[in-house]
Amino acid sequence: MNKTNLHILFACSELTPWVKTGGLADVCGSLPQALKQAGIDVRIILPGYKSVLDKVPPPEFVSLLKLPLGTVTICRSKIDDIDVLLVNHDAFTNRAGNPYMSDTDRPWPDNAFRFALFSQAVCEIAKPSGNSDWQADIVHCNDWQTGLVPALLSQHANAPATVFTIHNLAYQGNITIAEYNRLHLPEELLIQDGLEFWGQASFIKGGIAYADRINTVSPTYAEEITSKEFGCGMEGLLLHRRRILSGILNGIDLQTWDPQTDPHIATNYSANRLELKNENKLDLQKQLNLTADPDTVLFGVISRLAVQKGIDLIINAIEQLHDQNFQLALLGSGDSALQEQLKVLSDAFPERIATIFGFDEKLSHKIEAGADVFLMPSRYEPCGLNQMYSHRYGTLPLVNRVGGLADTVVDYTGDATSNTKDANGFVIDSADAELLSRGMLKAIACFDDKSTWLQLQQNAMMADYSWAESASHYIRMYEDIAA
Ligand code: ADP
Ligand code: GLC
Repeated sequence: MNKTNLHILFACSELTPWVKTGGLADVCGSLPQALKQAGIDVRIILPGYKSVLDKVPPPEFVSLLKLPLGTVTICRSKIDDIDVLLVNHDAFTNRAGNPYMSDTDRPWPDNAFRFALFSQAVCEIAKPSGNSDWQADIVHCNDWQTGLVPALLSQHANAPATVFTIHNLAYQGNITIAEYNRLHLPEELLIQDGLEFWGQASFIKGGIAYADRINTVSPTYAEEITSKEFGCGMEGLLLHRRRILSGILNGIDLQTWDPQTDPHIATNYSANRLELKNENKLDLQKQLNLTADPDTVLFGVISRLAVQKGIDLIINAIEQLHDQNFQLALLGSGDSALQEQLKVLSDAFPERIATIFGFDEKLSHKIEAGADVFLMPSRYEPCGLNQMYSHRYGTLPLVNRVGGLADTVVDYTGDATSNTKDANGFVIDSADAELLSRGMLKAIACFDDKSTWLQLQQNAMMADYSWAESASHYIRMYEDIAA
């Protein structure tokens, strides 16, 4: 089958610009578009969250599905010219807020039910049926929320093939056996080579154990997750299935993240007009009540406040460097203990450290444009998008050498072997506060060497992160399965 004949049902739990908690939404917003542009017939399927239904024009009714866990309505909406099927059920449509978490920052207690139901709907739509005008050849699933799909489809003859993309192996959707039984999911799947996982049932393991192809979102993370350190208990199974495991680096949306046209930033600029970037720095300093000073290095952070992201290391490194001249603008949401600690820092140094809690798309663009250095000392990072956004904005990332960060950031050595022609940021060798503070000092010193800094910025801005390149790897994978 060639690509023009391929029908892909793309199943996901978040989708930019409708519902986003992190990079998964951005990927699901962009990859199907790139596939479509390459000639693939792709449809997206997403839960009909209240926040989505409030945003889109009334969707068109498609069908009513009676599933083992309840009855859902399938409606059709569109993003550009891609059909998006919305799975509507009270558990999605009647609940405001974050797709996974309650207001109290805890997972919704019925998440297992919600995403098992969603997965049943995906399977029902994907299964061959005589009365459908569209038949999926491949169901492309993303993360634990859709992990049951490959497992459930494995029980049907003539079911389409499945791809499972791991965006973050640490979020697994694990539930007790009692809860699994309450969901009336098939007993036959609850075996050691199936969904059973250390005395529990694991949604993500459904994707890993049953999909026809597994991939992660960077080549380095694909290697890492076969080790005990990064495998989150799944390393044995992933090693066993390594012949069908690959790493495909995410792209980024080059239109949304373009300093030449970005409507959110104070002054547009390009690699040839980098002096204009300073106006964005002054604008950001003003907005955040930091001292307006083009010569002080401004570090930026935009992040979920989670252990993964090494925010504690940033706090610790800043405490070590408090007598140095630098500024920090941090935008984040998540862990309340980390918020408290960050607030203590910004209260102590209000003219140098600004912390903003919440999810703010516009401010995230302003930080990318206004910061000099973007901090991302993640403990693990399947891909990471912000280091690539940073490159595009001539903001040099300072990262830990893991996952997609290792695949995209080239460290400026700054020594006799000077690699000024290739370097596009700063890299530390492990998630460690002492190393991070040294990295920050290195970046501060490099910032004073204006010609080197400019060269590194230009290197960064030259990187090609177009989705077309990543999509071509997915298409090869689809063609390989279809063959
Ligand atoms: P992850 O998906 O692990 O959180 P990524 O780097 O892949 O990390 O993607 C994070 C995405 O979410 C980026 O688009 C980033 O700009 C965005 N983001 C994270 N936190 C915030 C926030 N508080 N406000 C606005 N955007 C945010
Ligand atoms: C996950 C990962 C992040 C990745 C994103 C999109 O949330 O933590 O590294 O960039 O998914 O694939």
